[in-house]
Formats: sequence, C-alpha cells, structure tokens
Amino acid sequence: EALEKGGYEHFMLKEIYEQPRSIRDSMRGRLRPNSDQVELGGIRDYIKKFVNAKRIIILGCGTSWHAGLVGEYLFEDIARIPVEVEYASEFRYRNPVIYEDDVVIAISQSGETADTLAAIELAKSKGATIIGICNVIGSSIPRATHAGSYTHAGPEIGVASTKAFTAQVTVLTLMALHVAHQKGSITNQRLHRLLIELDSIPDKVQKVLDQNEKIKYIAEIYKDVHNALYLGRGYNFPVALEGALKLKEISYIHAEGYPAAEMKHGPIALIDEEMPCFVIAPRAGAYDKIVSNIQEVKARKGKIIAIVTEGEKLIKEMADHTIEIPDTEECLMPLISVIPLQLLSYHIAVMRGCNVDQPRNLAKSVTVE
Ligand code: G6P
Repeated sequence: EALEKGGYEHFMLKEIYEQPRSIRDSMRGRLRPNSDQVELGGIRDYIKKFVNAKRIIILGCGTSWHAGLVGEYLFEDIARIPVEVEYASEFRYRNPVIYEDDVVIAISQSGETADTLAAIELAKSKGATIIGICNVIGSSIPRATHAGSYTHAGPEIGVASTKAFTAQVTVLTLMALHVAHQKGSITNQRLHRLLIELDSIPDKVQKVLDQNEKIKYIAEIYKDVHNALYLGRGYNFPVALEGALKLKEISYIHAEGYPAAEMKHGPIALIDEEMPCFVIAPRAGAYDKIVSNIQEVKARKGKIIAIVTEGEKLIKEMADHTIEIPDTEECLMPLISVIPLQLLSYHIAVMRGCNVDQPRNLAKSVTVE
C-alpha cells in the first residue's frame, strides 16, 4: 500500500497532487488551442442533439453533483442552453417532465452510483439522449448511456473526491466549448482565449499546490473549530459547496456552503468570533460584491480566510488570512479555486487524527439506495 501511495502519507494527498496531470490527461487529444478546436470523439454522433437541445438536465450525486452545478454555469454562459442540475435521487422519484429533445448529462466518478443509474434509465425510457461523464471505463453508467466522454483522472482511492471533480469540470468545460462552437454561440476570439487559458490550467494548479506549507499553517489555526461557512458567488458558488463537503466528510466539522449574497437570509445569524468563513474571492467575477460580503462578516467579528487573486491588496487588509491563486478566466476559476480548499480540509482532518482516506460511515461508491 505504501508503494501505491507513491511516497504520500495518504491517497487523498497523492490524488490532490496528481491534479495537474489528471486535468491534462482529461484534455489530452481533445484540446487543440492552435487550431481553435475541441475534439470530443465520444459525442461526435450526438452533437446535433446538443445543438438542437432546448434544455440540458445534469444528473449526479455528491461531488459529481457539484461538478454538475459548474456545468450549469458553463453551458448557460457559453453554449446558451438552459440547464437544470438534479440530485439523481430526487429526480428519479418525483415524476419529472422529460422531453425527447432533452439532453441528459450523467456525471459519476465510479459509474456505479445506484441513484444516478436509475435516473438515467428513467430519462432514457422517456426518449431523452443520455450522455455520460464517468471516470471508470466499462462501468455500469457508461454502458447505460448513448454516448459520453470519459474523465481520465486515473483510479481515485480516497473516499473524498478530489481529482475526479477537477477532471469532471475539465470535461464539462470542453463539452460546453465544443457545443458552443458548433452552435455558433461563442465568438472565435473568446473561444481562442478560453482554449489558450484552459491549456495553462495544469501549471496554475501546480502553483497553488506549491503553497501547501502556507495552507497547512492556516489549517493549524482553524483545526479545532466546530462550524465553518464557505461562501462564493457565480462560478465559485459550487466551489463553496464542494469546499464545505470536503471539510465535513473527512474532518467531521459541521460546514455549510452558501452563495455569498444569500448569507444575509440565514447564516449571518451564526457569525461570531468563533466562526471561520472561507470566502472564494478572486478578481474575476463579482469582485465588488464579494468584498462587501466580506465586510458584512467582519462587521460581526467573523474570521475571514479568503482565496484571492495573486497581487490582491484590498481583501488582504480586511481578511484574517489569504491564500493567493493565479488569475484566470472567470469560467475556469473553479479548477483553481477548489485546490486550496481540498488541501485545507486534508490538513485539518489529519491534524484532528481522522482517517482521511476512509472516513466513517462513507463509501467510495454508493451502489445501493
Ligand atoms: C459517494 C462518494 C463521493 C461521490 C458520490 C458520487 O458519496 O463518497 O465522493 O462524490 O458518492 O459518486 P460517483 O461515483 O457517482 O461520482
């Protein structure tokens, strides 16, 4: 087992560190920045279904559902197709309206999640087109779909998903760009810019990983808290949900992810000097808005740990701690901004003596209801 961990103390840490490679592997042969092309062989025969789709439904559970939420922003923003993201377990039991021209994207690392599989069968029986985004080749979900694009994250052993998430977001990005290009809903300039930028993401992820020592230092300060709040807006809202999930599943600290602006409708009541708020606040996006959300937390003596863009000044003065990440296009930010949150959760869990690779009560894939 020590050999399999490749010198890392835990599979989770190894998998976090593998992300520059697993993101690159998920783009390999598909991203052609020089010719402004995205190639997704797996969905070639179904591209017309996407182009003509009035709606996309994204299905998943857990972290895969969070990746789906990023997909919603991507497909609406870039491909201009309305998207609904559904928990597979809710979708399958609520008599959903499904049209024959709906495209359903099912996301699953393992390809074996029972609820996702059952939701696919339901959508298929109503005549929808089902596209899979899975990591395990030959698993049940890819076999149940019409077509799809695999993520190439390699085997993920840690129960808490890390590299599978970024690989899923990478494939969703490629898919949205490909569909947008085919539909003509993206300008050539924007496509060009995004492809060049996407190509640089693995190096930028590495730059975040290089800050591990600083992140570990911050983890030490907050390791004994009982609650934590994660806030983000736009593309970083799903990242806030994912950050909170990572913390609660491996460290057993109660954590909630929220859209930052929605904080004033509830969570703000919880804020006092004991409450750390992890705020994803890069320059790209609703920067001014998130600055005022940070002020709202500080006014109530909450602690702010902000994920900011390199060179940030204003938030540095307001926050208790900051972690700098490289700048990128707003729609690609989740691939970078989630990394420090994965590392923070990992270190906090290790410091609390938790079994990070196999947290209590959780399974890597949930093959029963
Ligand atoms: C379990 C795992 C999670 C995963 C979820 C969905 O809860 O512990 O890490 O996100 O299932 O799994 P899937 O294989 O369908 O992505």
